[in-house]
Amino acid sequence: MTKDARQAIWPSVPMGSKVFDTLEIVSAKGAYLFSRKGEKILDASAGAVVGNIGWGRQEVADAAAEALTKLTYALPPLATPDRLSLANRLTRDWLPGDMPAVSFFGSGSEANEGAMRLARQYQIAEGRESRWKIIGRDVSYNGASLATLGLGGHESRRKGFEPMMQKMPHVPACYCLRCPLGKTWPSCQVACATELEALIEREGADTIAGFQAEPITGTSGGALIPPDGYWSVIAEICKHHDIVFIADEVLTGFGRTGERMAVDHWGLQPDIIVLGKGMSGGYAAMSAIAARRPLPEALSAAGIAPMFHTYGGHPSQCAAADKVLEIIDREQLIERVQELAPVLERKLRTLLDNPYVIDVRGSGFFYALEIARNKQSLELFPVDAAVTFKIMEATVARGVFTYFGGTGSVRDIINVAPPFIINESEMDMIVVALDEAITEVCSQVEHNLAGS
Ligand SMILES: Cc1ncc(COP(=O)(O)O)c(C=O)c1O
Repeated sequence: MTKDARQAIWPSVPMGSKVFDTLEIVSAKGAYLFSRKGEKILDASAGAVVGNIGWGRQEVADAAAEALTKLTYALPPLATPDRLSLANRLTRDWLPGDMPAVSFFGSGSEANEGAMRLARQYQIAEGRESRWKIIGRDVSYNGASLATLGLGGHESRRKGFEPMMQKMPHVPACYCLRCPLGKTWPSCQVACATELEALIEREGADTIAGFQAEPITGTSGGALIPPDGYWSVIAEICKHHDIVFIADEVLTGFGRTGERMAVDHWGLQPDIIVLGKGMSGGYAAMSAIAARRPLPEALSAAGIAPMFHTYGGHPSQCAAADKVLEIIDREQLIERVQELAPVLERKLRTLLDNPYVIDVRGSGFFYALEIARNKQSLELFPVDAAVTFKIMEATVARGVFTYFGGTGSVRDIINVAPPFIINESEMDMIVVALDEAITEVCSQVEHNLAGS
């Protein structure tokens, strides 16, 4: 492929990358990607943490094709067999508690913004018109639309858009390794959770419509798992102040962290849940939100309808997602994740012997390695050293695709989130590639810094 042809796919990875400049993925099967030059690459991050069941399943393609030829398109609010089947499967088998109302969107960003609007509409329906702010967390990522950039805490993705967006109030995410509040668990008594109460007091509860957060932080903070007690404190505060509690499960849902939804780790019942990525496993560009009672009833009673997008709940996408979720259960893939997660974690933790790996954390089949210049002081590499992008390139050069993450002061994160079908020898391939890549890149960057 010529350089000009590559520039036509925009955005693409930065030009000048010795690995990505010449890489063109032409097919994928199971846990592997295949390039035009014949390279076979183990997809250790399931794309952007998407492909839970692996790639290239014929029965999913068949289901989507059948829906396309039989129906093609119907206005999103109308019932169709594929929409009904997927919505019923979600409410019956996947969502926590009683969440009877599901709306479909096209991306995680759209769905998170839809959840923000729904929280606002619910407050209006309840007569609390002054409530419009949605509290987010720093660090976090809820999407790239201007509303979700203002909600999220992704410093580098927000950069430059500040004048155009409504920045929402933030509480710190729970990041015990370098606590933003300077505290240590458990003596902190989850101060990062009680911070929410203090923020609500400062802003005024009568201005707050919702609180929106990832139950386990995705790639922005790299699998930050809250300490015991965190979520029960948050849920209690939200309930006490009539604040809509929104769980962004775009990345963590559908077995990724070892439970059907990450909120299930804590028996949490959000008011709204946001779904994406693993719901269709990469076979369809779709996402969804679901709401618990009495949100849908309150909106109906007030004559308020949530908005829809032209392609929301497209029949072929619903058919594909419905088949993906059927496969997860039929092949008992969540049980497989639960069985193999301790193996994957044990293998990844051997990387703590690498002098540049300061933390390995995660759950299920979602892990993050945190890379730093100095293990004792936790000193980071400079941002412009682009350490994690270089590590990603170096693992791809070794036949293993990993995904870089982190932002601002929580940076240099490498995410490992393979399809649920990988075996133990493939886990070993990931560990070897990462160990070699991290050593090669970090010692080179260190050498350059020392010489500069
Ligand atoms: C937790 C979370 N929320 C929202 C999004 C945005 O989803 P999308 O890229 O589909 O808009 C992402 C994407 O990475 C995510 O990880």
